[in-house]
Amino acid sequence: MTAERARITIFDTTLRDGEQSPGCTMNQQEKLRLAHQLDRLGVDVIEAGFPIASDGDFESVKAIASAVRRPIIAGLARACRPDIERAWEALKDAARPRIHVVLATSDIHLKYKLRITRDQCVQQAREAIRFAKSLCDDVEFSPEDATRTDPDFLCRVLDAVVDVGATTLNIPDTVGYTVPAEFGDLITTIRQKVKGIENVTISAHCHNDLGMAVANALAAVSAGARQVECTINGIGERAGNASLEEIVMAMRVRPDRFDYETGVVGEQIFAASQMLSEITGVPVQPNKAIIGRNAFAHEAGIHQDGMLKNPLTYEIMTPQSVGVPDSKLVLGKHSGRHALSIRCEQLGYQFDRRALDDIYRRFVRLADKIKHVEDHHLLELIRDTHKPSGSATPLIEPIAQAKAAAVNALSQVQDPEPLPEPTAPFPVGPQTNAFGAALPVGDSHEQTQQEDYLWGV
Ligand code: KIV
Ligand code: ZN
Repeated sequence: MTAERARITIFDTTLRDGEQSPGCTMNQQEKLRLAHQLDRLGVDVIEAGFPIASDGDFESVKAIASAVRRPIIAGLARACRPDIERAWEALKDAARPRIHVVLATSDIHLKYKLRITRDQCVQQAREAIRFAKSLCDDVEFSPEDATRTDPDFLCRVLDAVVDVGATTLNIPDTVGYTVPAEFGDLITTIRQKVKGIENVTISAHCHNDLGMAVANALAAVSAGARQVECTINGIGERAGNASLEEIVMAMRVRPDRFDYETGVVGEQIFAASQMLSEITGVPVQPNKAIIGRNAFAHEAGIHQDGMLKNPLTYEIMTPQSVGVPDSKLVLGKHSGRHALSIRCEQLGYQFDRRALDDIYRRFVRLADKIKHVEDHHLLELIRDTHKPSGSATPLIEPIAQAKAAAVNALSQVQDPEPLPEPTAPFPVGPQTNAFGAALPVGDSHEQTQQEDYLWGV
């Protein structure tokens, strides 16, 4: 009898860490649309945003929490009461809410950014998780810059947060500094040293500054992590996060090395990638693994010859397995509505009859002019047809609820509110930390420093 494969939780942070990357900002309606696609993709957790960062982000998290009911919906909060309260306010209507609390633990962050001691860090982490736990059962803790934190101190902080009820410990390689063997060893150390670790899920959150985010995340999984945090197209701060499609397909193509399963529906990967790039206007690099334009293209004669004889010669996965449209389906003026609607679906769009007729009329006019209508032409045409001010039929979201929520959401983003002023100072009082615990006397500088950091989002 074969042993059951371990299940890896896919935590998608496209809408939070991904959205933090330059050029990738999304409005509420766009976030909601992508959240529905992430749901179809089968991710387990959607990190929908950072509710205290802006009113817009707060409303987006709230809208996603009400409209997307299968996955866990997470919201990020720094380790202080105002952040956690705001996150909970946005999440509380979710079917499965999760508060994600972050606090830096490396000496470099404690000294220069937070200006607190190690003891204060442990106390702040403990109080933050205790408070989050009083609101929500599912609480994740991230020791920011974990890979540059003294491992003994890291384990001390993790001990404290497990003790007060954290259910997931996420280990971020915030600056993309670690390498696979080292990151695997860190996960092993945590598994050996942290008290009560057997009752919590260990997670990996890797950045790609040295191009090793996916390799590091996979090393963490091999060492016992059971959740990975990742983004569509690998977008995220600076060089990005570990790419969801690469992690999932590495497990699927190499079960001999990564014998794990995920709930991701491979055939929805391409549609998610296209939708994200269409929403943000940030194109996918042509040679990007799994979903780049050239990922399944064979140009060299020797490769084409091999492919024609047997695709196994040069293809380790089929384009269909990740939802890349069948390239044999060429769209031109002789194509019918059926082919057009299939290609639209493959690109992440579903239309009702009237909307399809509308698109089809424009498509035929275009095909008359340019012979072959490529995906990017079609996306442009769809975008054009559905300009909010135009007369076109609105895009039909596959899930009726999504449409209602999107309409709702739209009405709320017509007149964006100005950026909010901080409503509550941090820490709570001049001589206390975020939870009212006393700070050392004579450290008046500390409050201003922490305020700068806490409001600098
Ligand atoms: O990179 C990072 O440290 C983060 C945390 C909020 C998990 O994004
Ligand atoms: Zn990150």
